Order: sequence, then structure tokens, then C-alpha cells
Amino acid sequence: MLVNLQYVLDLAEKGNFAIPAFNVYNMESVMGVLKAAEEMKAPIIMQVYPRLMKEETGYFLSPIIKAAAEKASVPVCFHLDHGPSELETTRSIRYGATGIMLDGSTLPFEENIALTKRVVDTCSYLNVQVEGELGHVGTTADSDMDEFTTPEDAKRFVEETGVSCLAVAVGTAHGRYKKPPKLDIERILAIREATNNAALVLHGGSGVPDEEIQKAVKAGIRKMNFATDICYAFLDTCLEELQKPDRAIAIDNFMKKPIEAVKEFCITRIKLVGADGKA
Ligand code: 13P
Repeated sequence: MLVNLQYVLDLAEKGNFAIPAFNVYNMESVMGVLKAAEEMKAPIIMQVYPRLMKEETGYFLSPIIKAAAEKASVPVCFHLDHGPSELETTRSIRYGATGIMLDGSTLPFEENIALTKRVVDTCSYLNVQVEGELGHVGTTADSDMDEFTTPEDAKRFVEETGVSCLAVAVGTAHGRYKKPPKLDIERILAIREATNNAALVLHGGSGVPDEEIQKAVKAGIRKMNFATDICYAFLDTCLEELQKPDRAIAIDNFMKKPIEAVKEFCITRIKLVGADGKA
């Protein structure tokens, strides 16, 4: 069942768990994620980077995500990840997205508030909700990873923009970590308190130690993102399969193992964030 962002966030808040948000790139990753969600009876988010939406891929991928969500026996939200501007957010809504992230985290504070609020207002007419970002979550290649979100700024941001959830910088980054990160759990708790328990989002979930993720969810993370490890699960399996002399040649048959690998990875994350059985 295709649902909007608020629907899955409400489930997470009520059940004290995090909605796993899996980045998808092609039909096979959609199939792997969906199989995991259905097997685990878990509500999930399938999200797409804006570069895919900008290119031809988004045109073809969006109807696949929508078809998967509509067929699903569990709630699935179709979300734009890291939308940089109104051009991308509008295009994604036209493509059928039911959740939108507007990432103004590299803008000056006031500009981030103004742009995010404009997108929240537009989306509200369409029953689509918005994720904002405050305190920039960079990549693991960045030299500086400590531009953390403050509770005071988060309070103002949530109140003035009306976002449904907020991505915070508390020690994670996108990509493969050189050493496992340690999260600022106290900061998550303080932001939750300052924002009257706003739903918080953690980006950069790949490679974060399981116990850190569990602590973060307990502290109030309600959406937990995973992208890089989905790519590795898929591509490593493709590479392994290619080494086998008796490998399948028909592409659909060859793809069965990579789809299965994505599914198995997603099952571990669904259980980790406590979303299993919550559909
Ligand atoms: P990873 O690629 O580090 O899992 O991060 C995913 C993410 O936060 C997508 O926005």
C-alpha cells in the first residue's frame, strides 16, 4: 500500500521504532527491498537520490516504485532523498513521491528555514510531508564531520518550517566509514526534548555499529537511512556470480542472487531498527 511520509512516521512514533529508509537505484533493488519488507511485515520507505530523478532513470524508476508500493501488503512511502531545490521537489511529486526531503543544510540558517517552509507549504496542499535537514551530514570523505545540530536551532527550525521530520548531524556521514562512528546520543535526546519530540532522521546508516543504531532509535530516531550497504550487497553478489563458470546468462536469472542479497541485507536492518511486525 502506497502511503505518505506522515503515515509511516506516526507508526514509528507510536511503536517507538525507526522506519528503515532504503535507497533504491533500479528495479532489482526495489524488488529486494520489497521482498524484505513483506517477509518482515514491516512499514518502509523507498527513497531516491535527486540525481536519479534529474536523469532519465527517475522517469523509469518512479513508476516501478509506485507499482511496488501499490502492490505491497505493507505500508510503503516513496520519498525523494536530499532534494536540493523546488525544481527537484516539484518534479518528484509529479513522479508520484509521497514524501519529500528538502536538504537546505548547506545554506545559511535563515535561508534554509525560508526554502524548507516554502516546500512544506506547497507539499501540504498535496498531502505530502517534508523532511528537513539542519547541521550538515556530509560524506565519509569530508575532513570535517563535526558540524553538529544544536537543540536551540532545531527547535526554531521545526517550529518555523513545519517539517514532519528532521535530519540531524550527530556523528554519521554518507558512505563507507574509515573507522566506526560513535554517535552523540545525548544530543539526540536533547534535540527531541527541545523540539517537543519531533521525529528525527539519521542519515549515513551504512557501517554504523548495531549497538549505536539501537541506542539512537531508543533516543528518538524515527527514520533510519541505508544506501551504501545496499549497493555493496548488490554489486558484491554480481561480482561473485560473474566468477562462476555456470552462472546464468539471461539477465533476469542472473539478477536473482543480487536481489536476494539486497533482501537479506534489508531484513537485518528492519530487525535492527525494530520495524519487523509493525505493518
Ligand atoms: P549511507 O550510504 O551511508 O548508508 O547513507 C544513506 C543516506 O543517508 C541516504 O540519504
